[in-house]
Amino acid sequence: MSSQEVTTMATTFAEAAETVEHAARIEHVSKSFATPGGQQLVLDDISLDVAPGEFVTLLGASGCGKSTLLNLVAGLDRPSAGSIATDGRPALMFQEHALFPWLTAGKNIELALRLRGVAKNERRERAERLLELVRLQGSYGKRVHELSGGMRQRVAMARALAQDSQLLLMDEPFAALDAITRDLLHDELTRIWAETGVSVLFVTHNVREAVRLAQRVVLLSSRPGRVAREWRVDIPQPRRIEDAPVAELSLEITEVLRGEIRRHGQH
Ligand SMILES: Nc1ncnc2c1ncn2[C@@H]1O[C@H](COP(=O)(O)OP(=O)(O)OP(=O)(O)O)[C@@H](O)[C@H]1O
Ligand SMILES: [Mg+2]
Repeated sequence: MSSQEVTTMATTFAEAAETVEHAARIEHVSKSFATPGGQQLVLDDISLDVAPGEFVTLLGASGCGKSTLLNLVAGLDRPSAGSIATDGRPALMFQEHALFPWLTAGKNIELALRLRGVAKNERRERAERLLELVRLQGSYGKRVHELSGGMRQRVAMARALAQDSQLLLMDEPFAALDAITRDLLHDELTRIWAETGVSVLFVTHNVREAVRLAQRVVLLSSRPGRVAREWRVDIPQPRRIEDAPVAELSLEITEVLRGEIRRHGQH
């Protein structure tokens, strides 16, 4: 290959790299809060990209700034420094389902469809399809209090998907569920992620959950939150939380996390 060809190839790669889109691009983001004791630096110089269709988990000890970072990506708050760009407006899902109790499961989803401008005559059918996607067919008319915790989180997932966003932000959405229900919802989320091609940024302090779900695990340190390390997870899906490779990698990550916690004097 001539040197000119090599140069041309290099230029082409550089151009391609520049045109790569990101579901989210977090660049040198810092965040401080005003507290009675002065400014508290919670996030310090965080840079992180989520590629289109990628599943990333953000892992860290309690109080390290995971929710703060997710809220910034969601546009609910602004960084003190740095910049965040997302491909369209992200959809959000929290630990609490935040469904409207006076609406049925179906109507909760339809509300999200209405907010993004879906015509009235299409909403019902789409809501039914989304309920099917989360395996809640037949629950359209159920009220929130008639649903179990796991079912509520499924409706919340369907409602987040109704926004048709390229990026789904999830803040410990399964933390309040029992282990078996959580296991089932991990399976559902993995399947839905593969079926829809949505990008996911998933926050958790549960190491096994992070490894069970993600293609990449990003560990945040505490006080202030910085990217301490990241791991690519090449274990084929579907994984089970008790699979040996999941357990092995979880052990390795837990050791590093423990070191981080010791260093920053957290419990
Ligand atoms: N609006 C705010 N004003 C002042 N301090 C805040 C605010 N929001 C968060 N903090 C502080 O920022 C730090 C990080 O909080 P954050 O909720 O992001 O942690 P987290 O990693 O999500 O924790 P957990 O795993 O317990 O949910 C905490 O010390 C918290 O007190
Ligand atoms: Mg949090």
